[in-house]
Amino acid sequence: LTLKEAFKDKFLMGVAVNRYQINQSNQEETDLIASQFNALTAENDMKWMYIHPEENTFNFEQSDKLVELAQKNDMFVVGHTLVWHSQLAPWVFKSNNGDTISNEELNGRIKKHISTIVGNYKGRIDAWDVVNEALEEDGSYRKSPFYKIGGEAFIEKAFQYANAADPGAELYYNDYNLITPEKRNGAIRIINNLKSKGIKIDGVGVQAHWSLNEPSIEDIETAIKMYSETGVKVMFTELDISVLPSPWNAPTADVSVSFENNPTMNPYPNGLPDSVQTQLAKRYEEIFKLFNKHSDKIGRVTFWGLHDGLSWKNNFPIRGRTDYTLLFDRGMKPKKAFNAVINTVKD
Ligand code: G3I
Repeated sequence: LTLKEAFKDKFLMGVAVNRYQINQSNQEETDLIASQFNALTAENDMKWMYIHPEENTFNFEQSDKLVELAQKNDMFVVGHTLVWHSQLAPWVFKSNNGDTISNEELNGRIKKHISTIVGNYKGRIDAWDVVNEALEEDGSYRKSPFYKIGGEAFIEKAFQYANAADPGAELYYNDYNLITPEKRNGAIRIINNLKSKGIKIDGVGVQAHWSLNEPSIEDIETAIKMYSETGVKVMFTELDISVLPSPWNAPTADVSVSFENNPTMNPYPNGLPDSVQTQLAKRYEEIFKLFNKHSDKIGRVTFWGLHDGLSWKNNFPIRGRTDYTLLFDRGMKPKKAFNAVINTVKD
């Protein structure tokens, strides 16, 4: 049984894919993508810096390849992401007349960015993470240049431009730590604000970069219910579970110190011990039992990477960590966690 078969009556099962997997045409990887998953997100290749590197240059070469791979395999395609303060092109906040950029000029750029990209993929990309990470941890708006210049209206406009360019596409607000009460309430405020103005939003994307203990199943359940009550679908868009200690609890506050040979921060450089494999499997099992219970509210669960070797967590916050976040190991073999996830729908 594959993931997409096992969960076909529950929600889509997605995977984030990078350009390397396409360009190096690693057949084993593309086969695994196609056999296990029915939704695909571009992990990097649709971000502003890659797809719109200069004001008048759009580069669809890599994103086209991802869309083709998805279409060939009947996968739902998620565009990630239209407006984000990170992985931006350097020109975006630089005014053409050399002054500080005005709201009007920036807004024109956002409009062109969204209309061109969403328009280009109209009918081929099924859903967009329209705005990504616009909240601070306390639930207030993130003080990014988008907000400082455009106010909260930048979010409204982004959704309107996306809807105008492809009325058939699903539109999401996407962020991390969306389970904590403060940030959850911030996201609910965004959803309600859009809805009260008649602006289309179809889902909230809960990134789900989680660990073995956090967040708790109870808190995840509360969030699922509260988001669903606003009338949007809940998407778990970037699921991975780190088995390593949080870098923010580093013995020294200096995260620039290499973790590579630091046994405290990188405790399993030669492979994950059985006991931790089991812990990870148990954690995934509890999470999927909860997802199954609320499958009427959940549209999709996407893993942030195909296998452990491709997880961004290996390089976070600096290179040299060895993490084991996903359902397939570095040899692309299913882990204990894979079986645990599949077993949640077997009985
Ligand atoms: O493209 C360059 C390449 O030319 C260079 O040789 C190579 C070596 O340094 O780096 C490549 O860029 C990397 C890029 O991914 C593409 O692979 C960057 O260094 C690397 O920092 C970047 O990381 C991505 C990260 O976003 C950047 O913020 C991760 O792969 C990606 O998983 C991660 O995804 C984000 C989501 O978009 C939003 N939510 C959080 C999530 C995790 O940070």
